[in-house]
Amino acid sequence: MTNIEQLLENNKGWSQRSIEANPRFFADLVDQQNPDYLWIGCSDSRVSANVIVDLDPGLIFVLRNVANLVNHTDMNCLSVIQFAVEVLKVSHIVVCGHYGCGGVAASVDNDRHGLIDNWLRHIRDTANLHAAFLESIEDPAERLNKLCELNVAEQVVNVGETTIVLDAWDRGQELSIHGWIYGLKDGIIRDLQISISGENDLKDLRNKLLFHDERRESGAASK
Ligand code: CO
Repeated sequence: MTNIEQLLENNKGWSQRSIEANPRFFADLVDQQNPDYLWIGCSDSRVSANVIVDLDPGLIFVLRNVANLVNHTDMNCLSVIQFAVEVLKVSHIVVCGHYGCGGVAASVDNDRHGLIDNWLRHIRDTANLHAAFLESIEDPAERLNKLCELNVAEQVVNVGETTIVLDAWDRGQELSIHGWIYGLKDGIIRDLQISISGENDLKDLRNKLLFHDERRESGAASK
């Protein structure tokens, strides 16, 4: 597929096949979306949210940016989280990173990449925060994969620390935040086992990250 018009042709085919498989496919979607999940993932073209968890449109609310970052001054991200939590009332927010993330690699390669370095600076901060741990890993690919995992964990904390999520927990709204990481080589998502469902969990996770837990030694296999 090289021609942009091909995309529009593909779309017509997809629409037709969807209706053939389920005549109410679009009729059911048109009135409202009712997703139970907010997905915060990387813009990487290989990590398409609906595709890798095999869900139809309407079931997952999605925010993607380079290296799946959640920053406290990013109005785009905060607005998406607010809408998801307060209007759609999702029960789960998933931060899904991926191994071999180019954004994560670029954050620590000491080259200049232009404006994006300011965005990636947040990952560099994470790398600095965990410098001793990361330097203890000899294999560069493995070290980078650990930074991908740490980046996810830091974003789970960042989501939990938004006023939106703290207020939701205060109201008693059921809301869990999960940290996952996707393997480009096998298409499998690993659960990093850092889910948080309230302020105590958030505090625990923050402490784990500050004081290096054993999880990472025995944690998800890096692929
Ligand atoms: Co990426």
